[in-house]
Amino acid sequence: MKKVKVMTVFGTRPEAIKMAPVILELKKRSRQFDEVTVVTGQHREMLDQVLSVFHIEPKYNLNVMESKQTLSSLTSKVLLRLGKIIEKEKPYIVLVHGDTTTTFAAGVAAFYQQTKVGHVEAGLRTWNKYSPYPEEMNRQLTDVLSDLYFAPTEQSRTNLLHENHPKEQIFVTGNTAIDALNQTVRQDYQHPVLNLIDTGKKMILVTMHRRENQGAPMRRVFKVMREIVETHPDIEIVFPVHLNPTVQEAANSILGSHERIHLIAPLDVVDFHNLAAHSYFIMTDSGGVQEEAPSLGKPVLVLRDTTERPEGVRAGTLKLVGTDPNTVKTAMLQLMDDNVEYQRMAMAENPYGDGHASQRIADIILNDFIKG
Ligand code: UD1
Ligand code: UDP
Repeated sequence: MKKVKVMTVFGTRPEAIKMAPVILELKKRSRQFDEVTVVTGQHREMLDQVLSVFHIEPKYNLNVMESKQTLSSLTSKVLLRLGKIIEKEKPYIVLVHGDTTTTFAAGVAAFYQQTKVGHVEAGLRTWNKYSPYPEEMNRQLTDVLSDLYFAPTEQSRTNLLHENHPKEQIFVTGNTAIDALNQTVRQDYQHPVLNLIDTGKKMILVTMHRRENQGAPMRRVFKVMREIVETHPDIEIVFPVHLNPTVQEAANSILGSHERIHLIAPLDVVDFHNLAAHSYFIMTDSGGVQEEAPSLGKPVLVLRDTTERPEGVRAGTLKLVGTDPNTVKTAMLQLMDDNVEYQRMAMAENPYGDGHASQRIADIILNDFIKG
């Protein structure tokens, strides 16, 4: 049989982490698939960290990143540069992931070349155009362009059906985040950050970067965090700060220079997953971290007003607290003081699959190719 040429396109840290297991699966089945990896380079250092951990060498890098880049410049660069590569490589299908600008622009570039689009992590929704911004529109628009939908959960499948996407093209696969997680967490893990933390103290792991949180919402949450650390000597914060200059500035000015607040560079994914496994609880506005925490048994305070991951809220691991200072403070104190509530959140079950999503995705592509 002729090999199926699959082009995987991604550009940011979370896409890379969740696309890596798919790429490794396609490469393992090299008698069936010819996998071509393209990175847009929407992220630079944070993308390179993931490529290095999973030993992935892209065939093409569009190198689009600029400091403080805008959505329009990113979109137009990806569209122009990727179109030429799709035209030259002529893949059977272009696989995109999630909801970034890379995802949407790559979907349009494939459509312009009349090439099939497969959307990994399809069907997540808040139904709120500006929350998260621009991700909600990126994923809705990508789903309009897609031919195969790899929905991580039944909920995401239902969302796609609600928008009249064709039933026979939607497949519930589980989330590839769990595939990745199965390869990273180790019992004997060591990292210098762990040595900084007094074992008698509770470590809160923090990440925050979303566009709609930058400015006042982010600053007021950071102020609450600092206040809690100052009034609770048994608490430490570890915060690997996103490389976005706006986030760096806010974190350094409000959370900097405190001996129990560790502002560190972004961690590679092995370090981050293992540190999360050592944390007491997590505070984040990240999408991917919300999927990983249930598997690690860690409560998460979600620093957003909406989430496209209601499965984790229903399971009990995630609590949506937004960015109102009183709500954030109350939720932090409750997790620190109320052991019953803490255990309830920590014991929840992982709703994101069994860690075999990548194999299912490869099988579905192969079947689609054979069907013609
Ligand atoms: C992007 C995605 C967001 C995702 C996030 C994951 C869009 C619109 N946003 O947001 O959905 O949650 O990635 O982290 O697609 N930078 C560096 N080095 C890096 C990465 C970023 O210096 O390795 C700096 C650059 O100045 C860049 C800025 O961060 O201009 C913002 O990067 P960008 O990809 O536009 O936005 P993110 O907030 O990272
Ligand atoms: N992550 C990482 N290093 C860090 C912080 C996060 O590897 O310092 C991982 C995390 O485990 C998750 C992903 O990055 O898999 C989430 O990426 P991010 O928060 O940047 O984006 P989002 O998921 O919000 O789109």
